[in-house]
Amino acid sequence: MTFLNEKEKQTVYKTILNRRDVRSFLPKPVPSDAIDRILEAAHHAPSVGFMQPWNFILVSSYEVKERLAWAAEKERKALAIHYEGEKETKFLRLKVEGLKEAPLTICVTCDPTKGGAHVLGRNSIPETDMLSTACAIQNMWLASFAEGLALGWVSFYKKEDIRNILKIPPHIEPVALLSIGYTDKYPEKPILESVNWEKRQSLKDRISHNEWKDSSN
Ligand SMILES: Cc1cc2nc3c(=O)[nH]c(=O)nc-3n(C[C@H](O)[C@H](O)[C@H](O)COP(=O)(O)O)c2cc1C
Repeated sequence: MTFLNEKEKQTVYKTILNRRDVRSFLPKPVPSDAIDRILEAAHHAPSVGFMQPWNFILVSSYEVKERLAWAAEKERKALAIHYEGEKETKFLRLKVEGLKEAPLTICVTCDPTKGGAHVLGRNSIPETDMLSTACAIQNMWLASFAEGLALGWVSFYKKEDIRNILKIPPHIEPVALLSIGYTDKYPEKPILESVNWEKRQSLKDRISHNEWKDSSN
């Protein structure tokens, strides 16, 4: 195996730094070969004990997407009581619209029982199965960027609603709803930064040597 040359290395960092969470999509269909490559990227993620706990439910039916959006909208309303001001609730609503707009939604699930009772490494930290699934999702996010596609991660929903809509068994975790499609508004910086919700914090303050120290507070 050879490592990357300089140009390839820069491309990897460019992808990591420019990938964004997106919430508005064009109706233009997504090529199935691009989706195949994105799923292949997901399936090459690292996983604890190589358990590969993920499954992918591809939702292209508008009716099913509407039901998923209904579940997210219900949760958005419940969350809205924590925020004051129109901007915040409007902002959360946009993400729900994205669920209906995007031509494809992928529900990524995690099966904690995959690999049987003794998955190497997972016995010490059980949530490593979910962490492995998150690695798969990040691969999808980066691969989507490489394909010129936008991806948005929705996690505000009640898992039971998503299980009901997508007929997911009770022991399987619906980890994420990912909206995928083309966009004419790929954000240059995190949307939450643009709307002054939060900004990227200093990395320098997060690094310590030989013992815990957090200078960011
Ligand atoms: C685990 C996880 C869950 C997320 N859930 C939501 C969500 O429910 N709604 C939403 O609008 N964005 C969600 N996001 C996207 C984040 O808001 C976004 O990644 C963050 O604001 C940074 O922006 P960036 O991804 O463009 O860098 C989620 C991201 C992660 C990693």
